[in-house]
Amino acid sequence: MVDIGHPVPDEFPDVYRIVREQIGDEDAEEAAITLEGETAASDTWLVSRVNGQVAACLQMLEVDVRVGTRNLIGGSVEFVASDPAHEGKGLIRSLIQRFHEHEVERESLVQVIEGIPYFYRRFGYEYALPTPSDLVVSHPLPRLAHWVVRTATPDDGRLITDLQQTAQAGADVVVGHSARTWQWILRSPVYRILIASNGDRRAMARVCKYGETSYMFDVAGDQEGSLAIAADISNEGPLHVLRRPGSTDDIERAASIDPRSYARYGRIGDLRPLLARLLPELNRRIAPLELGDRTTAISHYGSSTEIEIRDGSIAHIRQGGRMQAVFSAGALGVPPDLVATLVLGPLGAEEMRRRHPDVIFDPSDPLWPALFPPQTIDVQTWVYP
Ligand SMILES: CC(C)(COP(=O)(O)OP(=O)(O)OC[C@H]1O[C@@H](n2cnc3c(N)ncnc32)[C@H](O)[C@@H]1OP(=O)(O)O)[C@@H](O)C(=O)NCCC(=O)NCCS
Repeated sequence: MVDIGHPVPDEFPDVYRIVREQIGDEDAEEAAITLEGETAASDTWLVSRVNGQVAACLQMLEVDVRVGTRNLIGGSVEFVASDPAHEGKGLIRSLIQRFHEHEVERESLVQVIEGIPYFYRRFGYEYALPTPSDLVVSHPLPRLAHWVVRTATPDDGRLITDLQQTAQAGADVVVGHSARTWQWILRSPVYRILIASNGDRRAMARVCKYGETSYMFDVAGDQEGSLAIAADISNEGPLHVLRRPGSTDDIERAASIDPRSYARYGRIGDLRPLLARLLPELNRRIAPLELGDRTTAISHYGSSTEIEIRDGSIAHIRQGGRMQAVFSAGALGVPPDLVATLVLGPLGAEEMRRRHPDVIFDPSDPLWPALFPPQTIDVQTWVYP
């Protein structure tokens, strides 16, 4: 018999064993930070029990999402693992399904995952959010005078969220950790959060190490301070820095660029409530078009989302039915497995139309490129991408 629930303390050792066997020793220690002690939150975990014994697990994380001017609730998962003795029995499929139900309950409109290649595509996720390039620092950088670099403590939570918010302010689409997630990361044995100070000036970065190479990401704050952190770390061995325009430009001048074709997963379970939440942003985008009245749709072919425009503004968004002939209807056709790419990704409708035969709209219609323009993105995930 299989049942799903939050783990109870007697089950924590099983969770740690599964995470240790399938992901790693330090990851099991990280899991413990979220299950026990002052930052415990066992209700963020789901376990699948087979005959009363924990056989698979995952942790659900809350993330803060912003699209343009609109903030919204998002979610993520980490520590996804099955007991090797129970792989291939659909346990993770049912845990992900339960996670999605939980997301609907908390009105979370977007899910983002960094993880197992291809796997999450099985559950409606798209590689919607490309990862920035790595900056490769292959020689020690000179240390910077006047900067003091120290390891962050749990008391730095506020400083960290402030620095991150400022670093993300310039991007169109943003996914950020909640304050609680930062408190877990601050206690993680896998990551060091470093803070650089020089008078009132501050910078921060998260650092982890695989083998000899250090990886630095979530870089934020004063550019010179970020360089001071990179200089310290570069003296320990080779360094990769996840590029973040506006935060890593000084480091970029001392590094080579390793362009990568990697991406985070994004999922939009239901487009209609997301567009409803984004309404003021969408209307801001189409205001210059002065569209008057128009009824149109975004077709996912098997179903559609109807859009009613009155006096140049979207007035209603409704669930619609099957819609095949999108071009002649003046609609936008986008297959269900490219919806997150369209709404959250950097390409925009026009470029997607060029790349994908089943992204279809009349190229002379200004509505769709205005509604879904190319966007800059800044996404945080628990692990280095
Ligand atoms: C990947 C893993 C989580 C799959 O767990 P599982 O319990 O075997 O998954 P399920 O049985 O629920 O599989 C769901 C579906 O995915 C498929 N699947 C399983 N592993 C897959 C993989 N690595 N890639 C693609 N598809 C996979 C299954 O065949 C199944 O398909 P179906 O529903 O059409 O039959 C498990 O093998 C594992 O713990 N791996 C290591 C953990 C890890 O690396 N975690 C990353 C840290 S976040």
